[in-house]
Amino acid sequence: MAAAKIKLVIDADTGIDDALALLHACASPEAEILGVTTVSGNVDLQRATRNTRAVLALAGRGDIPVWPGCGRPILRDPEDASYVHGGSGLGQAELPEPPATDDNRHAVDQILALAKVHEGEVVLVPTGPLTNIAAAVTREPALVRWVKRVVLMGGSFQGGGNTTPAAEFNIWHDPEAARIVFHAFAQEGAAPLVAVGLDVTQKVLLLPEQIAALGRRIADTPRGPALARFFEDATRDYFDFIERRLGRRIFVMHDPLALAAALDPSLIETRRVAVDVETTGALTSGMTVADWRGVWRRKPNAEVAIGVNAEAMIGQFLERMERLAQGDILAREAG
Ligand code: RIB
Ligand code: CA
Repeated sequence: MAAAKIKLVIDADTGIDDALALLHACASPEAEILGVTTVSGNVDLQRATRNTRAVLALAGRGDIPVWPGCGRPILRDPEDASYVHGGSGLGQAELPEPPATDDNRHAVDQILALAKVHEGEVVLVPTGPLTNIAAAVTREPALVRWVKRVVLMGGSFQGGGNTTPAAEFNIWHDPEAARIVFHAFAQEGAAPLVAVGLDVTQKVLLLPEQIAALGRRIADTPRGPALARFFEDATRDYFDFIERRLGRRIFVMHDPLALAAALDPSLIETRRVAVDVETTGALTSGMTVADWRGVWRRKPNAEVAIGVNAEAMIGQFLERMERLAQGDILAREAG
């Protein structure tokens, strides 16, 4: 008997790596994507929502509902990451306008509704700022017990930040929201909160030559040409940006790793630790502080990723993109 599918709710600020995470989810037969909620972050809510719908359509999964959420952080003024992801949020990629929808339900309502109706089964995968998740747990604290697990891309627990020397973008963009979420998962009986931070995501790198080789392998498949064009167009400027910043042409697979680890926890090694979020520091706002030595004497509230099998994750991603290019039939048959 086939294993039960993993029920996913993905919360994204769809930029380029969120898009690759969505494609990975769509190509994973073990995933049942209940819906995608969107949040402002890399780009504004409208663009993040449009991008999400367009990327799902590219994967042949326009059937997956997308529900917009919070259009700005709880307290801070929104500062996007368009300098990384481009003004559209998807680099130079131009995807067809997704079909309009009359489903006007809100992300926070849907996160709560799905977690409750599928109590104990939903794996919630935030790949953007935690504004929607904070609103949901504030509205209904029981959410931390309703979900099976949260696997979020965010934070930096042993090294520096990527947006300030102290803070990773998702946490930095809405530190108050992140603090609410990490505190909520300190509650007795809360489900595991897995934090996939820069410590591991910066070790998972997709290279231009891997994208080019993938494009050649899928050139004669039903969805291959459109996917190959998307990969090339979405990442071209990103590679230039990263080369200027780091001197190397690499694509850091932040969100795809969180999504892949939600489906295959063996990809990462985690350690339970008490985590809190700095919200007032002039230099350190958005810093995720992990009490590795237990000096706070607090119960751990997070499972922080400290190790990753980067080669396995990249291999999974490339293999699933080939499967996706073959057409959604194959992706679903294996499920
Ligand atoms: O710091 C990386 C994170 O910030 C990723 O989720 C990326 O999409 C941006 O949102
Ligand atoms: Ca993101």
